Amino acid sequence: MTKLRSTYESMSNYFVIGNPIDHSLSPLIHNYWFKKYKIQSKYEKKKLKENDLKNFITEMKNNKQIDGANVTVPFKKKIIPFLDQLTDISQKTLSVNTIYKENGKLIGHNTDAPAFTQTLLDLKDWRDGSNRPLKSLIIGAGGVTSSVIFAIEELNDVQGENYIMNRTKKNAEDLIRTGLKELKTKPKFLDWGDIPQNLDIIVNTTSVGLAKDDNLKLDFSIYKNSKKTVFYDLIYNPKETNFLNDAKERGNTVINGKMMFVLQAKKAFLHWTKIDAEIDDEILKLLD
Ligand code: ATR
Repeated sequence: MTKLRSTYESMSNYFVIGNPIDHSLSPLIHNYWFKKYKIQSKYEKKKLKENDLKNFITEMKNNKQIDGANVTVPFKKKIIPFLDQLTDISQKTLSVNTIYKENGKLIGHNTDAPAFTQTLLDLKDWRDGSNRPLKSLIIGAGGVTSSVIFAIEELNDVQGENYIMNRTKKNAEDLIRTGLKELKTKPKFLDWGDIPQNLDIIVNTTSVGLAKDDNLKLDFSIYKNSKKTVFYDLIYNPKETNFLNDAKERGNTVINGKMMFVLQAKKAFLHWTKIDAEIDDEILKLLD
């Protein structure tokens, strides 16, 4: 009995907070790694309302058994005022998906942006090994868009050419004006449907595609047979949205959001446990 009790007391707890949260697959990944690396910890989903955020952070600070958290939509920006400190990357993207404790302080960090970067660097034949600046189009202006814009900019040694397109143009303008700091190049705002030529990468950051029949209704036919153009959808469930399906049929290179999702988790796990967790087949199967 005493033993059980002390085990429980020494156990650390982690949460993913958001709303809605039912769909989150983060607990599957982190609990798998806790078990694999024999760490006495538990990771759970927590659905919060916006006015619960302050209490959650206070609880996290005072409760020695809560060691960290992930933050998902719609709180990646809203959580910021309650944190003690931000890492450089979360300051620049004004987006926090990971919270860890350091000397009693709660630090907000962003592992989405480096995860996105890594998936592109891991891509075979990415930019033919050249480092010429990228010509990119970002579709959407949601919670994760600032991380993608920041990551693409970081991939360029010199200024690239970045475009952003959103159903509601004003939301994209607001995001660039207030949602990102220290951008080297301001993206150019496009009208919906206005597709530039010779793009290297087109990223869907909208929620369109989460339902199987969803369609952005954008005409990318000028990219027929363009194998070098990467169509990247941050959605990973379903595995292949219409955006990716059409790109595949046109002969483009396609990437879905699965590896970015696993990599952001791996980078958060490293912060919490100092363990560089392996992305093994089991993890990839858990997400299918
Ligand atoms: P968040 O990611 O912050 O939770 P969201 O509600 O999921 O936000 O929406 C993210 C993005 O999806 C937004 O860019 C949104 O466009 P608007 O700014 O015009 O709302 C985009 N989006 C949602 N539904 C869409 C649709 N049917 N067609 C095009 N874009 C859409």
